Amino acid sequence: MSRATDLTKTRRKFLKMLSASPLLAGPGLLAGSFANLLAAGEVTDKRFLGWLDSVQQSDEVISSPEQALEVMDFEPAARKALPPAHFGYLATGVDGDGTVRANREGYSRIQIRARRLVDVAKIDMSASLFGTKWNTPLVLSPVSGQKAFHPEGEVAVARAAGKKGHLMMLSTVATSSIEDVLAARGGHVWQQLYPTNVWEVGRAIVKRAEAAGSPAIVLTVDLQEGSNRETLFRAEREDKRECAACHPSAYTGDARGRGRGGSGSFAQYAARKPMFDGLDLSKVTAAHPANMNWDFVKRLRDTVTVKLLIKGIVTREDAQLAVEHGVDGLVVSNHGGRSEETLRPTIESLPEVIEGVAGRIPVIVDGGVRRGTDIFKALAFGASAVGIGRPQAWGVAAFGQAGVESVLEILRRELLTIMRQAGTISVDKISRNYVIARGA
Ligand code: GLV
Repeated sequence: MSRATDLTKTRRKFLKMLSASPLLAGPGLLAGSFANLLAAGEVTDKRFLGWLDSVQQSDEVISSPEQALEVMDFEPAARKALPPAHFGYLATGVDGDGTVRANREGYSRIQIRARRLVDVAKIDMSASLFGTKWNTPLVLSPVSGQKAFHPEGEVAVARAAGKKGHLMMLSTVATSSIEDVLAARGGHVWQQLYPTNVWEVGRAIVKRAEAAGSPAIVLTVDLQEGSNRETLFRAEREDKRECAACHPSAYTGDARGRGRGGSGSFAQYAARKPMFDGLDLSKVTAAHPANMNWDFVKRLRDTVTVKLLIKGIVTREDAQLAVEHGVDGLVVSNHGGRSEETLRPTIESLPEVIEGVAGRIPVIVDGGVRRGTDIFKALAFGASAVGIGRPQAWGVAAFGQAGVESVLEILRRELLTIMRQAGTISVDKISRNYVIARGA
């Protein structure tokens, strides 16, 4: 778990302990001022600090979505619900997971400049993307293999998205089909695309999604074969189950070939991924083709009849090229820190991508979003919408559909709170004027 995560957890436990303490029971204000004294170093009683230490060490995990105070509360609950290898798959970054941590830390370096004396009696959190109006600018980024987290997987996520009114993107390597997920969500599911090294296979996935009613294809360009997912590999060592019972193939697209297995074919792997059903996979060797370039984007643009977005753009130059190639939208993403260890948070890539597109197409950002204030900051830097990945998977792993609903509700509530506090009555009012980099 990252240091930022640890600190959040510690603070949550501390405040909870304060409100439970018989000494400090009573108005929240009392607990609040005590917390301030402690933060200021004015509380030094050793007995108290020892007690605090033991509270901080305690390993309390929520047992229902209603108990969650914040989205991070779902992470330990998911860890508890999942076997080590599955949790490892969800948690992993690459190398030392530095980019996973950087995505969070990026948000903590930005402060909010709240304006006062604004009438915030009515807040409008709605946002539009390609002419569709959403209750909030919060969207569900693609997360693969969600039946590893819950028996209903992506379908449970889709039901939650439908109920709460959020746009959802479905991974190509999901364990549910686009048809099932569109039905569960009630439309509005964008199909993420790993095109594979065989054009006809990628094209068939696009055409299937279009026929099912998906209004957009999202080409992911930030992941090469062989990513070094050490946290996953370590978690696999802890897992005593026989993986081959569920995964007949060791093809994973990561660097696991070095360790466990490594001899399986893509077709064996794809047998559990319904978006590949009925396709000839005999020549597919990679989900993420190494030779994909801008000519590929041009060819895809000529093939896709719905909106085409590219996910994984992090530079001004690539943003400009995407616009020149007729792409309809971008997702600033580093694959949740699961592709290359750049240590660069997506929130810090966002401004140059926004500059590159110069208002011509919408830009979504994901990576490290855990708070309504993170969503606020991303909107302030020009994002049209903000995606969450891991939090939806923690929610579904821990409590199925209800967990995802709760994750979405917490973030909605937190966004509402900060919009009110900062004096921004609608999403379009949240501008660069409302944020400042720490120390700037
Ligand atoms: C798939 O997209 C992954 O990151 O494992």
